[in-house]
Amino acid sequence: MTQDELKDAVAAAAIDEIRPWLERDTVLGVGTGSTANLFIDRLAALRDDFKGAVASSEASAERLRGHGIEVFELNSVGTVPFYIDGADEVNAHLHMIKGGGAALTREKIVAACAERFICIADASKKVERLGEFPLPVEVIPMARSYVARELVKLGADPVYREGVVTDNGNPIIDCFEFMIDDPVAMEARLNAIVGVVTNGLFAARGADVLLLGTEHGVERLTP
Ligand code: A5P
Repeated sequence: MTQDELKDAVAAAAIDEIRPWLERDTVLGVGTGSTANLFIDRLAALRDDFKGAVASSEASAERLRGHGIEVFELNSVGTVPFYIDGADEVNAHLHMIKGGGAALTREKIVAACAERFICIADASKKVERLGEFPLPVEVIPMARSYVARELVKLGADPVYREGVVTDNGNPIIDCFEFMIDDPVAMEARLNAIVGVVTNGLFAARGADVLLLGTEHGVERLTP
């Protein structure tokens, strides 16, 4: 199977996972990226079975609306029963690196408001240790150089992501050469740097379920 077919298989599995729980007043949390897009496309067929969605990016909001799915502000919703999103890397504890698509901050906010986080990913995303994928850090613009210097002190090779501005108007620094032994501790350590908005480690609040697309079918993993 191609990587796109594996992504579509986990998108379908996520639909199966949530379908029994959908009610007329359900508002879902929906993530960002190519795997989340396939999920959104499949969600369209169920649009009369639930109320709508909160999106973790303007791009996903636009795609949802394009399918006739109403998009709500998170503040007007409070909590969502499920947040469904992809990952750039995920380990056995269902800790993740996210933010390859620069949506990490809104993704982390919606995930924090979700009762269950369902991660959907093809098998290439599953790793023993997080960090081969460069860890994104969203920063306040004036703090960019300061934060980069602090990241060097922690052992990272920080690279400014040229030409990218997040939905929140901020730049992204990607941390290369930064293998992470303790994702929970490192997530907190990075958040403590003044000027950091969010880092792409999702460990304090990891996923509750991983639907992993493999050549042998979709595996359902829990921490
Ligand atoms: C968006 O900022 C990211 O966190 C995505 O969720 C992540 O990059 C996965 O994207 P793909 O599904 O496109 O691999």
